[in-house]
Amino acid sequence: MKSTTTAALALLAASALALPTTTSIQQVTKRQSSSAAAVSSNIAAWQVDIENVNGFLDNAQNAINTNTGYNYPQEASFSLGTVGKACPGPNGCASDGETRFANLKALLPANDTHGQAAVAQLDISIPGVIGNLTAITQASATDITTIQAAINSINDLRCDQVLPAVAQLWYQATIDTETTAGTPASIPAVSGPSACAVIGSATL
Ligand SMILES: *[C@@H]1O[C@H](CO)[C@@H](O)[C@H](O)[C@H]1NC(C)=O
Ligand SMILES: *[C@@H]1O[C@H](CO)[C@@H](O)[C@H](O)[C@H]1NC(C)=O
Repeated sequence: MKSTTTAALALLAASALALPTTTSIQQVTKRQSSSAAAVSSNIAAWQVDIENVNGFLDNAQNAINTNTGYNYPQEASFSLGTVGKACPGPNGCASDGETRFANLKALLPANDTHGQAAVAQLDISIPGVIGNLTAITQASATDITTIQAAINSINDLRCDQVLPAVAQLWYQATIDTETTAGTPASIPAVSGPSACAVIGSATL
C-alpha cells in the first residue's frame, strides 16, 4: 500500500516536472496575446460601420414615412460601400464591416465555442443584409414597395441575428485576448437603428 502510494506520487511528480508549469498556468487563465490591439481596433472600426448603416436605415425609413424625396439607391450604395461609390471610408460601410468580421474571425481561437457560435450565425446572416442592401441599390428610386420590403428584411436580420451575434463576438474576442482575468476593460456597445427595439446582449 505504502509503496503503491509512493510510486503514484513519484509518477505525479515526474509528470508535473515534464510540463512547463508557467506556460500551463497561463493557458488555463487567459491567453497571452499580441492580437489584443488588432481585436480592439477592428471592433472600434466595425462600430463606425454599423452606425453608418443604422443611419441609412433611419433616414430611409423617415423619408418613406414622411414621403420626402430621398435617393434610396444612391444612399444604399453609400451605405454598402460598393466599389466605385463614395463611402465615408476608410471605415463606415457595410462592406467595411464584412472586412472587420473577417479579421476578427481570423483572430478568434478555434476552441472559443461562444465566439465560434457568433461567427457561425454571422456567416449565415450577413449575406442577407448585404443582399438586401444591394437590392435597394438596384431598385427604382420610386419603387417604395420593393425598398420598404428590403429595409424590413435588413432590420429583421440585423436586430434579431446580426447585431446580437456581433455583441457576442466582440465580447468573446476581447476576453480571449485579455492577458489578465476579470471584466474586460471596454467593449463598445452595439447599437441598432430606431427599428430595433433592443439589441440582445451577448450570451455568455
Ligand atoms: C483554448 O486553447 C488555448 C490554447 O491551447 C488554451 O490556452 C485555452 O485554455 C483553451 N480554451 C478553452 C475554452 O478550452
Ligand atoms: C433579404 O432578406 C431576406 C430575409 O432574411 C432573405 O430571405 C433574402 O434572401 C434577402 N435577399 C437577398 C437578395 O439577399
